[in-house]
Amino acid sequence: MSAPNKSYDPVEVEALKPEEIERMRDEALAAFAAAGDLDALQEAKVAHTGGTSPLALANREIGALPPHAKAEAGKRVGQARGAVNKAFAARQTELEAERDARVLVEEAVDVTLPHDRVPAGARHPLTTMMERVADVFVSMGYEVAEGPEVEAEWFNFDALNFGPDHPARQMQDTFFVEGPTGDHGESGVVLRTHTSPVQARAMLDREPPVYIVCPGRVYRTDELDATHTPVFHQIELLAIDEGLTMADLKGTLDHMVQSLFGSDMKTRLRPNYFPFTEPSAEMDMLCYVCKGESVGNPDRPCRTCSSEGWIELGGCGMVNPRVLVACGVDPQKYSGFAFGFGIERMLMFRHNVEDMRDMVEGDVRFTRPFGMEI
Ligand code: DAH
Repeated sequence: MSAPNKSYDPVEVEALKPEEIERMRDEALAAFAAAGDLDALQEAKVAHTGGTSPLALANREIGALPPHAKAEAGKRVGQARGAVNKAFAARQTELEAERDARVLVEEAVDVTLPHDRVPAGARHPLTTMMERVADVFVSMGYEVAEGPEVEAEWFNFDALNFGPDHPARQMQDTFFVEGPTGDHGESGVVLRTHTSPVQARAMLDREPPVYIVCPGRVYRTDELDATHTPVFHQIELLAIDEGLTMADLKGTLDHMVQSLFGSDMKTRLRPNYFPFTEPSAEMDMLCYVCKGESVGNPDRPCRTCSSEGWIELGGCGMVNPRVLVACGVDPQKYSGFAFGFGIERMLMFRHNVEDMRDMVEGDVRFTRPFGMEI
């Protein structure tokens, strides 16, 4: 700082000359204008308004002026500093607005873009349905049993009291893997036509009492069309114990449909014939949509049961004593009941699936509406 100057002439103090102050101010303004971002602006601010900036240094020179000269020099420096601060603030606002606009563009997320994440897998509704049915029985203490899909003809037919001439043994229903004259003696090898052979395997594997549920894939030589598929799924139930009667069968069926379709559901049995049950029955369940109210009521037609009030589920009956004997169970001591039905059919009426081909083609547009049940 210069020494006090008694005979003051402001023009003689170099840093306080008007053109010097103007130059400092203009340099500051130019530096702010040239700053391309907020960091550069901050640097320019330190250089042009900080404690060692030309204007700050000039300001200090004022103290050395004689009192009458201070006012004019002070005003000049003050105006210059005011202009610099104003320019800084204006440029800062400008650059902040630019930054905000840029951030909005750069960090914008387009939520409509297709994502590249692998979607979570979903179980096929047939699998879910089979597990749902099996769970009803597991919660009653039944065991889930499985058997081979490539099955000995003996288990698929003979053990179940299908006589050698039974029509179901003819080639048109059954996929033969090996004919009866193959290396397996009397019994050929087939793709199982139903899950009932698991009954025979379960009885031979275990000591009674036997309580098993068997979901699985079965095969028949049908063409794939809207109502048939050569590969489909069944669920089979077998209970062997002392003193089981048809009342137990009926109670079990009612419990199943109530668990799956609601507490006001029930089943009915109609006489039928199966070689492996005696007596045998066809089992129907109350239509879970109209609860039978569409019958004889043209004002309230029901698409699900075609206004019949009942939906056919499958077959059932008391295990034929001949089957018990073939599978090593004493029919004097034990009796049993069994039933079996198709899962595809249940899925069709439960979810209004009109074409069976949708279930086998593997198109995710079919499975997706069933939800992601993993
Ligand atoms: N296995 C039979 C079929 O595929 C269905 C069936 C009927 C299973 C009666 C049973 C039963 O367990 O008792 O058509």
